[in-house]
Amino acid sequence: MLSVAVLISGGGSNLRALLEAASEPDFPAQVTVVGADRPCDGLAHAEEYGIPSFVVPYTRFATRADWGAELAAQLDIWHPDLIVLSGLMRLLPPEVVARYSPRIINTHPAYLPEFPGPHAVRDALAAGVAQTGASVIIVDDGVDTGPVIAQERVPVLPGDDEHTLHERIKPVERRLLIDVVRRHATQPAATAAPAPAPLPAAEE
Ligand code: GAR
Repeated sequence: MLSVAVLISGGGSNLRALLEAASEPDFPAQVTVVGADRPCDGLAHAEEYGIPSFVVPYTRFATRADWGAELAAQLDIWHPDLIVLSGLMRLLPPEVVARYSPRIINTHPAYLPEFPGPHAVRDALAAGVAQTGASVIIVDDGVDTGPVIAQERVPVLPGDDEHTLHERIKPVERRLLIDVVRRHATQPAATAAPAPAPLPAAEE
């Protein structure tokens, strides 16, 4: 059974969807711990499902690296096979990425590499695009720059505001996330970064 740690900052609706999926008897992964960078509403979902949780408040640490070291110490207690950033609105320090990569994935409410960053839905609306999307990526040191492992387009409809568009994207994110976690549990290479291109054959 794959052990999954989920990190959140907000309402945790995608976390809840994963908890629901993982409560099905044939789902091959379990959420073993939920962590957050601040006290937030999403922690209530963990409590409801009887999953332990922790908060490592970002603002209590002098540096991002210090915060990351404590976050990693908390995660290590649970020996997660996979770490899911599900609305964690903090950039992980490189030490934490290096420690777990490529076993850290992130959900993002846009069709990356379009609209990276913390305001993906707002940015898509401001750009006036007809469609945006949802992505699941492997976390690297950049801001939403890691390899894409699942993504799907979502239409922008006339009259959309940030809330209506985000609420159309989230169910797609949830489906992609649950599918990626299931795939990782059954074939771990599924979330690994794509293999580098083969070297050209040596010339005679
Ligand atoms: C989700 O749309 C997630 O992709 C996004 O925050 C939302 C969290 O919703 N994450 C990012 O924008 C990270 N760059 P939730 O708390 O209701 O699951």
